[in-house]
Amino acid sequence: MSNSPDADNSALEIWGQHSLSGNVTISGAKNSALVVMAGVLLCSQPCRLRNVPNLVDVERMGAVLKALGVKVKRDQDFLELDPSDISHTRAPYDIVSKLRASFFVIGPLLARMGVARIPLPGGCAIGARPVELHVRGLQAMGADVQIEHGTVHACIPGIRGRLKGAKIYLDYPSVGATETLMMAATLADGETVIDNAAQEPEVADLANFCRAMGARIRGVGTKTLTISGVPSLHSTDYAIVPDRIEAGTFLIAGAITHSEISLSPVVPEHLGAVIAKLREAGSDVVSESHNRIKLIPGDEILPTNIQTLPYPGFPTDMQAQFMALMTLSSGNSMVTETVFENRLRHVAEFGRMGANIRVTGNCAVIQGVPMLSGAPVMATDLRASAALVLAGLGAQGKTIMSGIHHLDRGYEQLERKLTQIGAHITRLEGADAQAAVEIDGAAATVQQRQV
Ligand code: EPZ
Repeated sequence: MSNSPDADNSALEIWGQHSLSGNVTISGAKNSALVVMAGVLLCSQPCRLRNVPNLVDVERMGAVLKALGVKVKRDQDFLELDPSDISHTRAPYDIVSKLRASFFVIGPLLARMGVARIPLPGGCAIGARPVELHVRGLQAMGADVQIEHGTVHACIPGIRGRLKGAKIYLDYPSVGATETLMMAATLADGETVIDNAAQEPEVADLANFCRAMGARIRGVGTKTLTISGVPSLHSTDYAIVPDRIEAGTFLIAGAITHSEISLSPVVPEHLGAVIAKLREAGSDVVSESHNRIKLIPGDEILPTNIQTLPYPGFPTDMQAQFMALMTLSSGNSMVTETVFENRLRHVAEFGRMGANIRVTGNCAVIQGVPMLSGAPVMATDLRASAALVLAGLGAQGKTIMSGIHHLDRGYEQLERKLTQIGAHITRLEGADAQAAVEIDGAAATVQQRQV
């Protein structure tokens, strides 16, 4: 595997085993901001979204909306979106292929315009990412949906037709399918019930955003959503919920460096499974106020088993980060990934740092080691890249991580936030990044030969 920095030719240099202290400011949730941006298409008046994180994926979603005719203006941490003049109903393939979440525009675009042509998002590093639950749900609501040449063509039959309310059971509590169908149902004729709906906090945030625009949705946060369609929705000014995955990632940064750190704003109940498992692993997490929590590390990292599940189970988006912590535990842990079929690719990179992990199917057995050693590593996907940063923080010596374009998709200035609480982490660009990886890559090769 090449160790040269990826296409964006930058890398992170991380010096491990520095203790951290202080408070981290948590940004708005990426997985809420992206779908709420899509939800703006349901409305024909300008909307303002606050607490929107500055991320590559948010820029990409903005580009998709602009391609459809939405006016997008960013000012500090809020977005002004004016969807009053939708001039196109086809989303651009070059953006959809890079941002799966842009497929979620299909529901609001179809409900608002009566037609939507969205390229299939395709698979990614963690799995095939099919969309048949989205398609079948829209068909149940009366849409004619065909997939031709890699594009989903959806339209509502008849002149100025509307979707019809339907009773939909989701075979799997898919976050995206729940969001697509809930958005489509807000403008449908009649009542839609979505059974076995996803209960993730980001789904609830989207529902609350739609309600702020005048949608009628009951059962928010439960597995049965009932949406009574209305003729139209009105503008609103809405603040995105704090990012529970960013918060969980920082909790583990504290645990893996045996540091006491605080995080705010957070919604503690959104972190129930993560906090429970961190306590089992020997840390404690205490509330300092209604939206501020503090991690208190334990004397040692205790071996702990996790199984990823739909919310409120342990989140798949925290699996790689928790595994990083388990590599340094005092025993054997088991990590079982049940949500995605290929989300253990970070194991090989942990191995380069001295971790002892065996994978069988979707299960990894981690035998804790007394020490990780810094090494050149390559990020493979968004959460794996965050997990490698955490491993670097806990390792002895220097870690050079390339592939950091993955990180920039989902974390707002991660290295700045970590530096502010005492981490020794630097972003290397261009030739500096190239040189660092080559030197470290060569050193690592020599070391391996000497072993
Ligand atoms: C959302 O993806 C998140 N992305 C993911 O976060 C997150 O990991 C995932 O939910 C699960 O919590 C956004 O919100 C933008 P799913 P989504 O539909 O909606 C299968 C991150 O790191 N499935 O709940 O695509 C699917 O293959 C990202 O921030 C079908 O089989 O996830 C997967 O195995 C990664 N058919 C499982 O369901 C379908 O039609 C869960 O997928 C849809 C999904």
